[in-house]
Amino acid sequence: MTPKSILFVCLGNICRSPVAQGVFQSLLHDRIGSDLSKKWFLDSAGTSDYHTQEAPDIRAQQSTLIHNIDISHQRSRQFKLDDFNKFDQIFVMDASNYTNILKLSKNPIHKNKIHLFLDSTYPNENRQVPDPYFGGNDGFENVFQMLKKASLDWLNKWTSVKDSIK
Ligand code: 4NP
Repeated sequence: MTPKSILFVCLGNICRSPVAQGVFQSLLHDRIGSDLSKKWFLDSAGTSDYHTQEAPDIRAQQSTLIHNIDISHQRSRQFKLDDFNKFDQIFVMDASNYTNILKLSKNPIHKNKIHLFLDSTYPNENRQVPDPYFGGNDGFENVFQMLKKASLDWLNKWTSVKDSIK
């Protein structure tokens, strides 16, 4: 079944997951239009509370704005247990996010919602989205391209099931 509510998760919720949310939203909008994309619910969260209520890192904002995607309205929040109920799919950026969210899961239904975001592009390879926080600006463009490719691969996977994306 195609998920309609997706949560993107990283450590700080100011770099990778806000960009993932913005890119996915933009591609979804391009693919199915604004009316249908309103039926989807996208959000992002961090495993930590380090940056609660902060806007995305300025480098993350700039690297997405170059591609005409504005993520400046997003605000960081920590993952909470109720997210397992609210979301169909929980996309994590790296192995430590995966371990941390898995530890919080209470049952197999919760557990089955957690996926590495790059799994659509590289199935069974446990590939991770590198954390660009401590690097330079080129790290953000690299991460943007990875997240865009992964988003397209998930959307293509889901749209291969006839009309299910709508
Ligand atoms: P993110 O990057 O998990 O992609 O948002 C990070 C942001 C902040 C920190 C670590 C990673 N930090 O340690 O403050």
